[in-house]
Amino acid sequence: MLTGRFPQLRLRRLRKNENVRRMVRETVLTPNDFIYPIFVVDGENKKEEIPSMPGQFRYSVDRLPEMVEEVEKAGIPAVILFGIPSHKDELGTDSYSEEGIIQRALRKIKGEGSKLYLITDVCFCEYTSHGHCGYLECHGEVCDVDNDRTLELLKKQVVSHAQAGADMVAPSGMMDGMIAAIREALDAAGFTDIPIMSYAAKYASAYYGPFRDAAESTPAFGDRRSYQMDPANFNEALREVALDIQEGADIVMVKPALAYLDVIRAVKETFKYPTAAYNVSGEYSMVKAAALKGWIDEKRVVLETLTSMKRAGADLILTYHALEAARWLNE
Ligand code: PBG
Ligand code: ZN
Repeated sequence: MLTGRFPQLRLRRLRKNENVRRMVRETVLTPNDFIYPIFVVDGENKKEEIPSMPGQFRYSVDRLPEMVEEVEKAGIPAVILFGIPSHKDELGTDSYSEEGIIQRALRKIKGEGSKLYLITDVCFCEYTSHGHCGYLECHGEVCDVDNDRTLELLKKQVVSHAQAGADMVAPSGMMDGMIAAIREALDAAGFTDIPIMSYAAKYASAYYGPFRDAAESTPAFGDRRSYQMDPANFNEALREVALDIQEGADIVMVKPALAYLDVIRAVKETFKYPTAAYNVSGEYSMVKAAALKGWIDEKRVVLETLTSMKRAGADLILTYHALEAARWLNE
């Protein structure tokens, strides 16, 4: 690695000015790397700011076109849509209904002729009355998500998203066998060209707090530790990713990002697959809070953080900073 030593070798030579720094820069962030998350709610003419996520909003379907235009103008290729229906029930039926919130959102955006790439988050927690990510099976007082019954519901949900115009689906529920089930359902319905981005290594993280406010998806009781991963585990993440690739995932995701950069790096190096990192709500809100207090330089902190994710191995970054970061990169 080294062919000389100090004083012949001086690493500062290549840091002298911005031009030479540009020439040897190893990681370059661009708006092409971003996927912008959008929350969609029922109702009309709504653009409500999310209190725990300053600068992020929940849009009603009719207000989506203006949002989409902003994203396209910033040069961001894709959004991921999260639906927050007003009607929630035990099975999360809105998630696979033709008139469901996501289905209407997809038809609205496609109907306006937008070319923006539309990814849908595929899960049940925003749709169920209990707030868990699947079908809840209770034995007396003790309830847990029934894995295999959830797979059956997931199949309905993805086909319904595809029929409404989704370009890609992104299952986030951490059910075993979910990628195989979804691939099979999409193929059987004729959607052989729709890729799957799997939330493959998704940890049971406290960093999802603000998202759960935004999406009204906090579990009514208990937590998600029986399906999401233990933050202490690294090898298990590689097994999760290996399984999902075997089952047909096209892109694998690590979530959250900042506290799991080691996992991102290992996933990229081990599998050499398109790898996504989810810069989650808590990571966003911490930066925003400090910036609003005037304690940090927001632009520099955001670009440095996103660069670290790309440097770790992420090809795609799901981030609430996408719009602002893209504008800064385009300046
Ligand atoms: C739901 C889902 C969550 C996120 C994306 N999809 C939260 C959760 O598991 O509770 C997290 C997003 C974020 O925090 O920004 N399955
Ligand atoms: Zn969920």
